[in-house]
Amino acid sequence: MTQDINALIEQQLSWRYATKRFDPTKTISTKDWHSLEESLRLAPSSFGLQPWKFIVVKNPEIRTQLQPLSWNQPQLVEASHLVVIAAKKEVTHADVEGFLASISETRGVPVAALQDYGGMMKGFLDALAQQGTCEHWATRQAYLALGMLLSTAALLKIDACPLEGINPVGYDEVLGLNQSGYSTKVACALGYRSSQDASASYAKVRQTRAQVMLDL
Ligand SMILES: Cc1cc2nc3c(=O)[nH]c(=O)nc-3n(C[C@H](O)[C@H](O)[C@H](O)COP(=O)(O)O)c2cc1C
Repeated sequence: MTQDINALIEQQLSWRYATKRFDPTKTISTKDWHSLEESLRLAPSSFGLQPWKFIVVKNPEIRTQLQPLSWNQPQLVEASHLVVIAAKKEVTHADVEGFLASISETRGVPVAALQDYGGMMKGFLDALAQQGTCEHWATRQAYLALGMLLSTAALLKIDACPLEGINPVGYDEVLGLNQSGYSTKVACALGYRSSQDASASYAKVRQTRAQVMLDL
């Protein structure tokens, strides 16, 4: 009999933890990695504008270079995979035009029929630009993608550690992002926990339902 899906989800959400030590001998399969990439690519974003890039750092030398820019955390070099999530610094009317063209092509709708939607997005982005908060907005979208990645990994029984203990300016330099219009926000190491990782057995410290849920 198949396991109840709700029980399975809750079991895996409890199983996941921010992995401190990965087993460097274990590699995520191509099939699983594809699903993890899809969790990023298919992540929701405000208006669907997807103001992000996901940099999969495969080169071990680059990962070694990033380690001192990451509090020397061992996950940088021990995990099977490392993804850096970058957000777009400025999202412009040109981005909206490109997005409308993409909707038009994908859904077979004339661009002219999308002008109201386009105007709404442009107005929203203009307000962000005026407040100087466009990059903050893009960063929030980037973190949503991180959440999707972490949940998907847990369901696939793949370990992960979100990494905010990083120097984003240094990352941008090493990853060659300086002229790209994108900047590093957060990273995530993925792979399989080491049997030596004591933190795997730590009890979860979480607020109770009564503390965080408000029933109205
Ligand atoms: C955005 C974000 C950044 C984090 N950065 C780090 C990090 O740099 N290094 C680390 O070991 N853990 C990091 N963590 C893990 C958290 O400390 C961890 O999720 C939290 O203590 C709850 O524990 P758990 O995830 O093991 O249940 C980060 C978590 C999040 C969500």
